[in-house]
Amino acid sequence: MNQLLLQALSHSNHSGPPVWLMRQAGRYMPQYRALREKYSFLEMVHNPELAAEVTQMPVDILGVDAAILFSDILVIPEALDMGLRFDDNIGPIIERPVQTADDVAALPKPNVAEKLHFVADAIKLLKSSLKVPLIGFCGAPFTIASYMIEGRSSRDLRKSKKWLLQDPKGFHQLLECITNLTIDYIKLQISAGIQVFQIFDSWAHVLGQAQFKEFSLAYLQKLLSVLKSKDIPSILFCRGSSVFAPQLAAIAPSAISLDWNGDLAALRKQIPGHIALQGNLDPDILCAPREVVARETRSLLNSMEKEPGYIFNLGHGVLPETPLDNVKTLVDVVKSFA
Ligand code: CP3
Repeated sequence: MNQLLLQALSHSNHSGPPVWLMRQAGRYMPQYRALREKYSFLEMVHNPELAAEVTQMPVDILGVDAAILFSDILVIPEALDMGLRFDDNIGPIIERPVQTADDVAALPKPNVAEKLHFVADAIKLLKSSLKVPLIGFCGAPFTIASYMIEGRSSRDLRKSKKWLLQDPKGFHQLLECITNLTIDYIKLQISAGIQVFQIFDSWAHVLGQAQFKEFSLAYLQKLLSVLKSKDIPSILFCRGSSVFAPQLAAIAPSAISLDWNGDLAALRKQIPGHIALQGNLDPDILCAPREVVARETRSLLNSMEKEPGYIFNLGHGVLPETPLDNVKTLVDVVKSFA
């Protein structure tokens, strides 16, 4: 069993850093695209054999040090029967978004373990075969709320911000509802066998510091307390984590995953040493010529040399247009850095 990720999370890794990549299983891989010709994204997510197969792909093809469960953060609104679908051009669409506190009160009260049993089934299938740690994940309540309100990805989250400013109480009711379901979802993944858990707050960067504290951090803290009580190491990723790092550090996740806007070595000096760091290569660099990929990867590695709590990753997910060979180059450069 490859223990590098778990060692880095406990600051005891004295060889080169572990590497895995957000969105490491996705459309940039010809093997993934071949499966997608036969199945829709949601069909793959709902089918434990296919989800397990795709989770395993980057471990076999790239040699990464961790697998992340193939699924999506939006299975929570799906469990609420909000009409989730994925459009190849638009991305996720939620047919019946929520607009008022009354809409929140009218949401169903699903049994998460029943509705999302396919996730537990995929984890159980993977447990017997994987030779690297399996990362489970969920969306941060604020990010899930933003999809439930906007109905799709939106650049500025106008409706969500309008709601939280006009009716903070109603917005908190929505966050409460999502948090309670997410806690059940975290417990489901832990009992099925995940070893590390990452929380994605992909839309945190639209919030100011005080808004982040009130509408995101407070709920992240609730999720973290569940992970802590079960001794599962946690990684917090935000778009905006370079800016929110002091606030994130205050709720003490095992690791913070940094976006690419911040200088990782400089942030290492600011973030308390007991918190591991993950990140933060700009995903666009992976679309540059291969020499640039190798040079930028080495430069980041050198800047974090001898850091026992460092996990190599990108500042956000692999882009669909990324050449597979460039991703292989990145992983090879990290693996040959002793
Ligand atoms: O490899 C992995 O990272 C694990 C699987 C994973 C997916 N989504 C698969 C996926 C994870 C961890 C996610 C998280 C997720 N989903 C986030 C947070 C991380 C982030 O990227 O900010 C968000 C915001 C979503 C919602 C979502 N799902 C969007 C906005 C999209 C469309 C944009 C895109 O990248 O395609 C998806 C679809 C999606 N989720 C795909 C994959 C592999 C592409 C589906 C396809 O095959 O068409």
